Amino acid sequence: MTKSKAAIFTGINQPLVIDEIEVDDPKEGEVLLKLDATGLCHTEIWYMSGGDTTTRANSILGHEGCGTVVKVGKGVTELREGDRVVPIYIPECGHCRECLSEETNLCSALDDAYFGGSMNDGTMRFHHQGRDLHHFMLTSTFSQYTVVHQEAVAKIRPDAPAESACLFGCAVTTGIGAALYTSKVKQGSKCAVFGVGPIGLNVLQGCKLAGAEMIIAVDLNDERLKRAGEFGATHFVNPKNGDSVQQVKELTGGGADYTFEATGNTKVMRQALESTIYGGGVCCLIGVAKSGEVVEVTPRLLIAGRRLVGTAFGGCRGKTQLPGLIDQYMEGKIKVDELVTDVIDLEKINEGFEHMKIDSGYRYVVRY
Ligand SMILES: NC(=O)c1ccc[n+]([C@@H]2O[C@H](COP(=O)([O-])OP(=O)(O)OC[C@H]3O[C@@H](n4cnc5c(N)ncnc54)[C@H](O)[C@@H]3O)[C@@H](O)[C@H]2O)c1
Ligand SMILES: [Zn+2]
Ligand SMILES: [Zn+2]
Repeated sequence: MTKSKAAIFTGINQPLVIDEIEVDDPKEGEVLLKLDATGLCHTEIWYMSGGDTTTRANSILGHEGCGTVVKVGKGVTELREGDRVVPIYIPECGHCRECLSEETNLCSALDDAYFGGSMNDGTMRFHHQGRDLHHFMLTSTFSQYTVVHQEAVAKIRPDAPAESACLFGCAVTTGIGAALYTSKVKQGSKCAVFGVGPIGLNVLQGCKLAGAEMIIAVDLNDERLKRAGEFGATHFVNPKNGDSVQQVKELTGGGADYTFEATGNTKVMRQALESTIYGGGVCCLIGVAKSGEVVEVTPRLLIAGRRLVGTAFGGCRGKTQLPGLIDQYMEGKIKVDELVTDVIDLEKINEGFEHMKIDSGYRYVVRY
């Protein structure tokens, strides 16, 4: 058993409680990680507000971490003590139906753990004042020590700084992957990204990496549009200055080859679909909408040859593809440090979330 500093989610709309918890040793097929850093994501804000019907009180949240393996359980073959890692909330077991399919990254090996808020055998490894605490997204990075399944860990190069490498656990990989792995943006194409927060900025740089010729940033926030230029945007649209669909259609001469939605607003999802070109345009949904909300899709749009797709974790296979993205960051081909607005202590985690709710800054990173 290891004592660990943690931020505990106690109930909907309650601030996280900072306290010491106990973390069990890893069981078969599991590893104990000591995290150095974790990012804060809008998915936690959504979860903590009760956006998910499965929101569970008494959980350890967090899914954007970077750290070191400090103990391995029985039967762990791919990892050893001292390995630098990023826990991955979409695992990669390598042998389930999904891992064997080329069409998806949604490995199902740990579905019981993911949907059960536990380890895969239904038990918990976190305890606080005699009570079990739930796991979250297979990662639970808001505890300095966390237990994860070996399938939910990507091994990375040891020299990547934790404050930036942790962002590959969600924001960077989700955005870049949406362009590279899910939509497979082609060289010379025209792209539009709706919402250029931390996720959207990474979609922009994914489009740039893929060699897109025109990359349009769409956002209501002029400060964020300005920043978008540094991440590859070539054109800028603020819906406050006129209908965003019309503006994208005018700039692209009829519609974009690829559009991406990264706001979580279902009306914007519809706009992103309408902004694609007929006969081949692809609209990729990334934003997480509130529970029960729907996107209205006129069949005519799809009959005319548009495709509506969605992405989780950017379609990335964490074990095989994430380490290569970190290599590209270390080679200066992917911007990450610029996304870190502030590095904070765990004690300041609630303030970090408050900043994010008012769109101030991009990513707040806790340094343990
Ligand atoms: N699919 C996945 O795997 C995945 C992973 C991580 C996050 N997400 C989701 O992605 C979304 C974006 O995350 P983020 O951290 O970048 O959020 P964010 O709130 O920081 O950024 C959203 C941006 O959208 C802009 N915006 C809001 N309304 C708009 C409108 N009507 N038109 C144009 N722009 C508008 C905002 O000004 C802001 O810049 C969230 O819904 C998040 O939950 C999905
Ligand atoms: Zn996230
Ligand atoms: Zn699998």
